[in-house]
Amino acid sequence: MARDVLVFYSQQETLERWTDALGPELPDLDIRAVAADGHYAGDPAEVRYVMVWKPPHGFFAQFPNLELVINLGAGVDALLGRDDLPDVPITRLQDPTMSRMMAAFVLFAVLRHARDVPLFETNQRRRHWQYVPPRQPEDFRVGILGLGELGARAAGELVRQGFDVRGWSRTPKTLPGVKCAHGMEALDGFLADTDILVVLLPLTPDTRGLLNADRFARMPRGASLINVARGPLVDEPALIDALGSGQLSAATLDVFAHEPLPADSPLWDMPGVLITPHLASVPIPRTAAAQVAENIRRIRRGEPVVGVDPGRGY
Ligand code: NDP
Ligand code: OXD
Repeated sequence: MARDVLVFYSQQETLERWTDALGPELPDLDIRAVAADGHYAGDPAEVRYVMVWKPPHGFFAQFPNLELVINLGAGVDALLGRDDLPDVPITRLQDPTMSRMMAAFVLFAVLRHARDVPLFETNQRRRHWQYVPPRQPEDFRVGILGLGELGARAAGELVRQGFDVRGWSRTPKTLPGVKCAHGMEALDGFLADTDILVVLLPLTPDTRGLLNADRFARMPRGASLINVARGPLVDEPALIDALGSGQLSAATLDVFAHEPLPADSPLWDMPGVLITPHLASVPIPRTAAAQVAENIRRIRRGEPVVGVDPGRGY
């Protein structure tokens, strides 16, 4: 029988963790690494699947019999933006543990804003003791942009904590305890009713630059922003202006237009801004392996995979 080879490329993830996780699921799968420049030293004709995070340009062309591209992350914007993508199904990581990790980060960030932590951080640096009566979760309207795998899970966590949760998506949704809106025409009204905005949208041609000066101006003065999705969803100069003018009072930012965030970005020093280096959630091989393996089994059986719709952009 011809060998069934999966080739792995990532500068962020280690092959061993994925081999350990996928091995028990697919004992007959041969998982191989490539050189740091993406070159595969084995027989490229044997390679049916690739599991990748930002491989070098031209990577896919090595493999004439490729049947599946597995994106080693939830967001496929970097992959779909390429001009060397093969015409085969694309899947991404959709893992409940990854969603739980994101929901925990979002809960932390929402509580940071709802419990006035940015003010206390500033006060601490000044050795200033200021009692501020704590408000209750139901006093905050938390708006989540994107109600997919990650947004829906985060919404559930926030409902459980008692926040007044609203969500916005492209198509209609029903989620317990969440006031759902959809479509571009609903966005301005949604923003006007949001005290803490959580961004969990994919980056697509429709969502790039969605949060611009005009949209920040529609939010209540002093609202907060949490961006855990992709930097280019936000017009960064407009965000800096909105924070500088007090239109936004604080932000928790995990993603940026340019990563690493350049050392000269004003965001580093802005009061109320917390910067984390793109780690709100990460792939967890131990639990994500089941979904990856199931898609490989589907390819082997000639069935469609649970994948990404390149036309939709996510
Ligand atoms: P999903 O594809 O599961 O969900 C996307 C959601 O966004 C859906 O609800 C979708 O609407 C909505 N959406 C897409 N386009 C539009 C639009 N034009 N207008 C309104 N709503 C829209 O994605 P995930 O939840 O898995 O992930 C979201 C993003 O999070 C990823 O794309 C990635 O960029 C980012 N991410 C960041 C991480 C980090 O560590 N910071 C880690 C992992 C992911 P509908 O339901 O109607 O289709
Ligand atoms: C992802 C990410 O998309 O890590 O998975 O941002």
